[in-house]
Amino acid sequence: MNVLGIVGSLRKQSFNRSLMTAFVNQKPEGVTMEIADISTLPFFNEDDEVSFPQSAQNLKAQVENADVIIIATPEYNRSVPGVLKNAIDWLSRPYGKNSFSGKKVFVVGASVGPIGASMAQYDLKKMLLHGNATVLGQPEFFVGVAGNKFNESGELTDEATQDHITSAWGVLTQ
Ligand SMILES: Cc1cc2nc3c(=O)[nH]c(=O)nc-3n(C[C@H](O)[C@H](O)[C@H](O)COP(=O)(O)O)c2cc1C
Repeated sequence: MNVLGIVGSLRKQSFNRSLMTAFVNQKPEGVTMEIADISTLPFFNEDDEVSFPQSAQNLKAQVENADVIIIATPEYNRSVPGVLKNAIDWLSRPYGKNSFSGKKVFVVGASVGPIGASMAQYDLKKMLLHGNATVLGQPEFFVGVAGNKFNESGELTDEATQDHITSAWGVLTQ
């Protein structure tokens, strides 16, 4: 099974990147997983669709080649960060060629507040459903108070979250 991770934060010490890395570290045998780089995408501009940027073409190919996509989103002002929305906009184009269509997508998120980016996650699920993705409704994956769950090197230290990742992999590999 080929899995692609997309992280909605460009921050070096991002909790969401650390969470995605924990998914990589705990992946079961038989799963290959890479994490996409969305930092090189230009701002979406419909004028640029005629000469689709290479970075956006590469991301589309990564999504289209994956069996499962995991997206880890921060919550910015109760929604997804602009960089993630920008990536989703590129992936949704050209019209009729949404790369998420028919793809199994699992949404997770971490925030420093208590609600684990839940409002951003629900906004994200709405966008993905519009793109005809197969969005997992369960398990839900809200990592709240993220500052207490990772060490200074960004390693996940919270056992309950580690266990939740293990059971999520069980569902994803069914
Ligand atoms: C512009 C901005 C808006 C934010 N809005 C929210 C919010 O609505 N809800 C929330 O729980 N945290 C919010 N935060 C705090 C984030 O949870 C925190 O910065 C988190 O570490 C971002 O994820 P990252 O560590 O993966 O970069 C916001 C942070 C920024 C920079």
